[in-house]
Amino acid sequence: MQHYLDRFETLLGLTPVKPITLDVQGRQRTIQLKLEGHNITGSIKARTAYGLVRGLVDEGKVRPGVELIESTSGNLGLALASMARYLGVGFTAVLDPMSTVECRSRLEDLGAGIVMVDEADEAGGYLLSRLAKVREILASDDKYVWVNQYGSQQNPEIHRRMTGPEILDQMPTPPDALFAAVSTGGTFAGVSRYFKENGLSTRMVAVDVTGSVAYGGRPGRRYLSGIGASRPSSFLEDWLIDHYMYVGTAEAAYYCRRVLKDAGIHLGASSGAVVAACVRYLEENPDISDVLCICADGGEKYESTVYNDAWLERIGADTAAEDDRRGPDAATKAPVAG
Ligand SMILES: Cc1ncc(COP(=O)(O)O)c(C=O)c1O
Repeated sequence: MQHYLDRFETLLGLTPVKPITLDVQGRQRTIQLKLEGHNITGSIKARTAYGLVRGLVDEGKVRPGVELIESTSGNLGLALASMARYLGVGFTAVLDPMSTVECRSRLEDLGAGIVMVDEADEAGGYLLSRLAKVREILASDDKYVWVNQYGSQQNPEIHRRMTGPEILDQMPTPPDALFAAVSTGGTFAGVSRYFKENGLSTRMVAVDVTGSVAYGGRPGRRYLSGIGASRPSSFLEDWLIDHYMYVGTAEAAYYCRRVLKDAGIHLGASSGAVVAACVRYLEENPDISDVLCICADGGEKYESTVYNDAWLERIGADTAAEDDRRGPDAATKAPVAG
């Protein structure tokens, strides 16, 4: 099993950092994008899956015949399904209606079992319902092993050991500010810990969506997958966070489209949120110059959501208001992905 884990590790990381230029209050500002969609399985969650499963293997919990199980809104599921194939074990994903159609069919292609929950929890999301379903399945058969991305320290730890150092290696100097989306909080917590433990003064900015309670916040309806949570993160310690920002669905969608139109880079929804937060931060802090956004995945899984005008209209997300805020040149209807 170690051999297969080692092979999987060689497929991770060294994702590109690409500069884009966006107009921020009439000034052309450069934003570095770390494009995590270039990982195997198409997202930063390939690193998370590797860290989590390696931890379970080291504890002796993964043997032939076991079935990994996890509550996932999509990307971690894809990564775990791929890893499970490498290791020759089974995998069941517990999903909810916010996971995209594209994601579900890819999971099926990878041979994962899928269990759907469709009742929202009291916080307005599905996380608590998904976790309840995982517990029910674990109690029904001891072949199941829970990966537990929300509780396992291996989640932030892999980003402290792998993602943080990789970012620093790729930059000529540490950025003035770094932006990352929060769901479990593992990516942000691990990268921030690495920067802070190394005495760097980079301002670490966590990006969440309105309606998420990952770090305080008022619960509410959320529409984007991959970002936000309906329960507090166990990894987001105060000392790791210099600034915490909330982004709405329309703003995230606007920046997905804006970056595609202006720079030809196709970002996923949480990355649109991260870029939106970064632009707002640059508006409020015009003195800072080098900024880096961790972009967790690419846009291919979001054609039916943030790149779809009818979807935005249906959920009442007004990207036209974003156009107005940024002037007539900014108008963005859904561009055709290249
Ligand atoms: C697209 C996307 N962005 C951001 C995140 C947030 O990552 P984390 O759970 O490490 O906070 C996830 C997690 O699933 C994701 O799928």
